[in-house]
Amino acid sequence: MNDRQALLEMVIALRARLEWCRENGMEIDAAPRADDVARPPERRAGGSDAAAPGFDLLTPAAVLAAADLPQLRAAIGDCTRCKLHPGRTNLVFGVGNPSAELVFVGEAPGRDEDLRGEPFVGRAGQLLTEIITKGMKLRREDVYIANIIKCRPPQNRNPEPDEIASCEPFLVRQLALIAPKAIVALGTFAAQTLLKTRTPITRLRGIWADYHGIPLMPTFHPAYLLRNPGDKRLVWEDIQQVMRALGLPR
Ligand code: URA
Repeated sequence: MNDRQALLEMVIALRARLEWCRENGMEIDAAPRADDVARPPERRAGGSDAAAPGFDLLTPAAVLAAADLPQLRAAIGDCTRCKLHPGRTNLVFGVGNPSAELVFVGEAPGRDEDLRGEPFVGRAGQLLTEIITKGMKLRREDVYIANIIKCRPPQNRNPEPDEIASCEPFLVRQLALIAPKAIVALGTFAAQTLLKTRTPITRLRGIWADYHGIPLMPTFHPAYLLRNPGDKRLVWEDIQQVMRALGLPR
């Protein structure tokens, strides 16, 4: 994207935000409140059904306007917005039931996910699939699975702040469109990014948090469990809390 296109997208996004503010009776110069972000329409008291503009001005207008997941995927396109794009094979958008009651959010695609274009299909993914199928007695297709960022970092290094910032508006919109009853944040990156905190996962896990009106359960990442199988018991406790909240039989 060149500077002119970037500027145009900013203007379009600003206009969309101003229109939304006007429609929802907000002062034009009011900053969006934290809970305007990603709140699914049916959870919002009053106001229009439009996407709440919990975005910065760089969020492309097409992302805000996306009315379903295929439209959102199309809006992301062949993304070149961050420095990860030259190294990827596939952009890993997310997979599962577009109306899922439960969404799992991981960190970033690894090698297997990059090659397949699907999240959590490697060794950590097999463990997550077992948690879903053997533990929760659900099918992978019943839930939705996504990551904080959609492209593989080189050598599986941690996602960097600029990469998270570029990609986060897509996940925000994705979660708003799915409007799940609960989110499970898998590992440090997912939990800290979604909750905007630096608190370590060891202190966050097992305690319900709030993601713009959606209950969020932080737990350990399946890759951590592969290295520390003794902590599977703790993850199972967290997952059982989620099952209770969703009214799933145990
Ligand atoms: N780890 C993640 O966080 N996400 C994936 O998709 C795979 C491994």
